[in-house]
Amino acid sequence: MELRTLKNLHIKNKKILVRCDFNVPLGSDNKVNKSEDYKIRQTLPTIKYLLKNNCSIILISHLGRPEGRRVKRFSLLPVRDRLEKLLKRKVKFSNDCIGLKTSKIISELKPKEIILLENLRFHPEEEHGSQSFAKKLASYADFFVQDAFGVCHRDHSSVTFIPRYLRSAAGLLVEKEVKVLEKVMKKPKKPAIAIIGGIKIETKLPVIDNLKDKFDHILLSSAISYEFLKENKIKLEKGKEDLQDRVPKNYSNIILPVDYRWDKGRVFDTGKKSIKLFKDYIKRAKTIVWNGPLGMYEDKRFRDGTFKIAKAISKSKAFKVVGGGETVNTLLDTKTFDKMNHVSTGGGAMLEFLSGKKLLGVEVLKI
Ligand code: 3PG
Repeated sequence: MELRTLKNLHIKNKKILVRCDFNVPLGSDNKVNKSEDYKIRQTLPTIKYLLKNNCSIILISHLGRPEGRRVKRFSLLPVRDRLEKLLKRKVKFSNDCIGLKTSKIISELKPKEIILLENLRFHPEEEHGSQSFAKKLASYADFFVQDAFGVCHRDHSSVTFIPRYLRSAAGLLVEKEVKVLEKVMKKPKKPAIAIIGGIKIETKLPVIDNLKDKFDHILLSSAISYEFLKENKIKLEKGKEDLQDRVPKNYSNIILPVDYRWDKGRVFDTGKKSIKLFKDYIKRAKTIVWNGPLGMYEDKRFRDGTFKIAKAISKSKAFKVVGGGETVNTLLDTKTFDKMNHVSTGGGAMLEFLSGKKLLGVEVLKI
């Protein structure tokens, strides 16, 4: 089965509904921070492609988790303002994604006009998955384009339901994300290493399990290694931190840190010796996949390891794929973003892909 892409649709002069992932952080001034608008920028190629084809464009997205209620701080209005600046053209806005008023503005939309609809998640039907909600959204357009890679693992109305009612295709961003991640998973140039950090062990263990037979080495951050050791009934103690020889045989290519930074009896960052060790693996690698910070990134005191790894990866000539919200922030903070071959817009979606699961939102676009 092949992914139906935007280029397979006859979109000239048509009305196109585009699902975007505009889930970006907003500053205290309620504006999109210029340095954190990369998800919006990543959608521009699809929007520009549609403009070139004289389409009318209806953009839909979520922002945050308002839990089915209208919450002002999760409004997409600031995203509209940023989009106008980036596209250098007017973008209309509708205060709701459904309703008569919205249908009316959309019916009057001319070719090359763009409208952004208010947060889909202001309606509980979006996350619960509702046929009638999806049908309403589908009724606006001739085609549906899925460009929100970040939600392609979700069984939501705007992900898996709309394609039941409207001919659909992957946008340029989803196409690129899938292509890069498939390439890395199927035929990684060897040696291939994955660096797995962050804290949510339940989302990382399936990734470790799936990659351990495909990649040469899996390097674990302090927090993930702590959980990994716990899972394997190995106790990590301050002062007795080099536990590599106790790694179970079926995980023999897992590389653990050899030292940790502790605070009040808890592990907060990957130690200096470990960072040096990890850098040696990075230097030799031809493929690097990185997801999750090496230490407790929110606290400036424990960012050192993460920053050093970002810089080391940026200098490597390997094929470099990075994803996850905090990891991407690290790239921005260390000015290494542009040095990566691919920065995924998906956090959870990328992890599900790496763990070998099929992404529901991508599967529905296959023919
Ligand atoms: C993300 O930021 O990873 C995506 O926008 C998905 O957001 P969600 O986890 O709230 O579904």
